[in-house]
Amino acid sequence: MTTSEPTTTNSGIPVASDDESLTAGPQGPVALHDFYLIEKLAQFNRERVPERVVHAKGAGAHGELVVTGDVSRYTSAKLFAPGARTASLARFSTVAGEQGSPDTWRDPRGFAVKFYTPDGNYDLVGNNTPVFFIRDAIKFPDFIRSQKRLPGNGLRDHNMQWDFWTLRPESAHQVTWLMGDRGIPKTYRHMNGYGSHTYQWTNAAGERFWVKYHFKTDQGVDFLTQAEADEIAGRDADHHRRDLWDAIERGDFPSWTLYVQIMPVAEAESYRFNPFDLTKIWSHRDYPLTEVGRWTLNRNPANYFVEIEQAAFEPSNLVPGIGFSPDKMLLGRVFAYSDAHRYRIGANYAELPPNRPHAAEVRSYSKEGAMRHGFNAPEVPVYAPNSFGGPHADPNAAGDEGRWSFDPELVRTGYVRHAEDDDFGQAGTLVRDVLDDAQRDRLVGNVIGHVLDGVREPVLSRVFEYWKNVDPQIGKRIEEGVRAATDR
Ligand code: HEM
Repeated sequence: MTTSEPTTTNSGIPVASDDESLTAGPQGPVALHDFYLIEKLAQFNRERVPERVVHAKGAGAHGELVVTGDVSRYTSAKLFAPGARTASLARFSTVAGEQGSPDTWRDPRGFAVKFYTPDGNYDLVGNNTPVFFIRDAIKFPDFIRSQKRLPGNGLRDHNMQWDFWTLRPESAHQVTWLMGDRGIPKTYRHMNGYGSHTYQWTNAAGERFWVKYHFKTDQGVDFLTQAEADEIAGRDADHHRRDLWDAIERGDFPSWTLYVQIMPVAEAESYRFNPFDLTKIWSHRDYPLTEVGRWTLNRNPANYFVEIEQAAFEPSNLVPGIGFSPDKMLLGRVFAYSDAHRYRIGANYAELPPNRPHAAEVRSYSKEGAMRHGFNAPEVPVYAPNSFGGPHADPNAAGDEGRWSFDPELVRTGYVRHAEDDDFGQAGTLVRDVLDDAQRDRLVGNVIGHVLDGVREPVLSRVFEYWKNVDPQIGKRIEEGVRAATDR
């Protein structure tokens, strides 16, 4: 289309004016049969889809995974075959903020990746942290409400956040990450990504393994201090979206090296931590990183709304060679995302350009529904089984859905506890053995600043207790810092 062509309506009819409505004389009422005016106003009213209920603010780009390692002993997934190249879409995000909220608010960052594989789309919907605040999907709505806004005044509230966290001490490991430097990455390019959950890999012989994914940034991990982030938030709410866009525009393509930790299935039961508990990591000494490949982002979207806002990532998108694990969060998420997309975008969200497979053919019996435009040839039957050559399900695909043994009695008891499972142990190790003095100082300062912004009794005393359980020294420093500032 060139700019010298006349404007048309959405139905292709030439229009007389983009400036003047049709009126009865120069000062008369506006004519209702000015259908172009009506189309413009009505179309405008419908330009937005609801924002994501979480992770509403983000940025995205296209890229490619190139496999440099050889993990074919562990998975038959084609995208991880030696030398494979797979087109990919990424979306990074903050969690609690709304569309338009500052990119530099302290929050975990979403790290969602879609791979367009020959066996259909594979989505890895992770974060920039390897753990999470809770370990059961039933708590997710409560957790998120505590991080969003008060019902009366519509304000964010740190008292509500710390109330939830301290009542749910399994949050301690993730809160320690969040209050440290990882809580505000310098840019989206300067953060790692994690699949976070444990997934199952199956090789060509049908042998199974538990795996965890790690995307290590080739730009180096870097962060913003709270003061820097606050200053940027006022100046440029889109700081991280802009940085990603600008880097790709100037050809400075960000990349990540993809690794996995691999655990033989037989070792899961006796591992010192329950390997399916999302509040825990697997020690790298126990399960070192194995290199898989290099993932690069090299193309900006041509249209942000179509390619990024309407992108629908879903942990239920697994491909042959990859399966689920008994992680109760993951199993809850398998339902939640496609349900969210049907509400946010519509029943046929999977037909849209970012969501439809690019390297595989869709041979499904789903049909019709709002905004459907794809359809099978008329001779393809609309039901299964059929005698007329319609697609048929492959029983071999069942092996890739994730298999594990379990006790069939229905209970609500939480995870089986392994030898070293508790809520504070790994958070304490992070504080004492991973962080250096400067990082620990910033963690203490960040917690004090956060708590001083509205946390009251009885939550306040629980905050001190919580941090003393993470590490007595850190807890003491936080309590002294808060008390000194409030003179209590
Ligand atoms: C987005 C639910 C846990 C990472 C979303 C969305 C929902 C949701 C409904 C919005 C989807 C959309 O409208 O497009 C849940 C539930 C969880 C859970 C019920 C717990 C049971 C997690 C965890 C992670 C995670 C543990 C990371 C490890 C993400 C990311 C997005 C997202 C990255 C944004 C995807 C995008 O960029 O479009 N989540 N979530 N979520 N979630 Fe979760």
